[in-house]
Amino acid sequence: PTKGLKDYYSKYFPIGVAVSPYNIKDPKESALILKEFNSITPENAMKMGPIHPEENRYNWRDADSIVAFAQAHNIRVRGHNLCWHEQTPKWLFYDQQGNLVTKEVLLKRLKDHIYTVVNRYKGKIYAWDVVNEAIDDDSTKFLRNSLWYKICGEDFIFKAFQYAHEADPKAVLFYNDYNTERPEKRERVYKLLKKLVDAKVPINAVGLQAHWSLDEPTQKDLIATIERFSSLGLKVQITELDMSVYPWEKNRRDKREGESDTYTPEAEEKQADQYAMVFKVFRQYKSVISGVTFWNISDKHTWLDEYPVKGRKNYPLLFDQNLQPKKAYQSVVSF
Ligand code: XIL
Repeated sequence: PTKGLKDYYSKYFPIGVAVSPYNIKDPKESALILKEFNSITPENAMKMGPIHPEENRYNWRDADSIVAFAQAHNIRVRGHNLCWHEQTPKWLFYDQQGNLVTKEVLLKRLKDHIYTVVNRYKGKIYAWDVVNEAIDDDSTKFLRNSLWYKICGEDFIFKAFQYAHEADPKAVLFYNDYNTERPEKRERVYKLLKKLVDAKVPINAVGLQAHWSLDEPTQKDLIATIERFSSLGLKVQITELDMSVYPWEKNRRDKREGESDTYTPEAEEKQADQYAMVFKVFRQYKSVISGVTFWNISDKHTWLDEYPVKGRKNYPLLFDQNLQPKKAYQSVVSF
């Protein structure tokens, strides 16, 4: 039996992958997961919308099946996530008349949700993304103006960590966000993390989503982010790694002129170099990096096929559409 990513990195950190039930049901994909990875994150199954669609109804089926798979194969699980502005059920923010609920009601609902979900998987899920993406994309603003923020102000963030810690004092608790390598966003995330740490909120770590592209981040920006966040005494994980072959532009909804669907040899080469660079940095910072997780298994299916535009194929991972290792795989394991 040949080595997998997890074996090459056994002296560094666990290597994880985001999965959905259809992945573990597919014999080829599940074999690949078991060969290469020793950590998994449910891609959607534990988000509030899918798992808690109505106030008095939880849908445990998908989440349970992923946790059972992990348990059967001795793989650790990261929980994703407890509080986010997307994939959130409508009932949460409204009363029966259709008006926004009060802060007291929303915090009570958040508490019930976190207690129920975290408690169900206590001892089986070692880490939770407690709050996801609370920083605004606009660099002149601080916290995102979500319904969470509109109704609760910043308190929902503090409370979410408190509830998660109460429900499972042993769980490693994360704040998770994207574009954290960009200097202005890095500083705003730092400001939030520092507030939490100074207030003795039970936060242990920060997740860099790492939805990256061929020329972003630079080595300098990546190192600056790892050093800045870990200076607060927090561990750092790479939680949703992929390397889009298109530039990252959040608001783009249409294909740009001249942009092609073909994955050129030049792009593949550049991607392998970028993967080599970031993994070199991860190894160099192994004392603070406690895990690296890819967002999807292979180029056969990636969420970037649908985001930010539908119908544009992307090739952001280490395995190709036939589940075979790409150049980028070689560059990650050659050191
Ligand atoms: C994505 C999933 O991969 C998609 O299947 C779903 O349609 C949308 O969400 N940041 C996150 C993840 O924290 O939860 C997102 O996952 C990708 C961006």
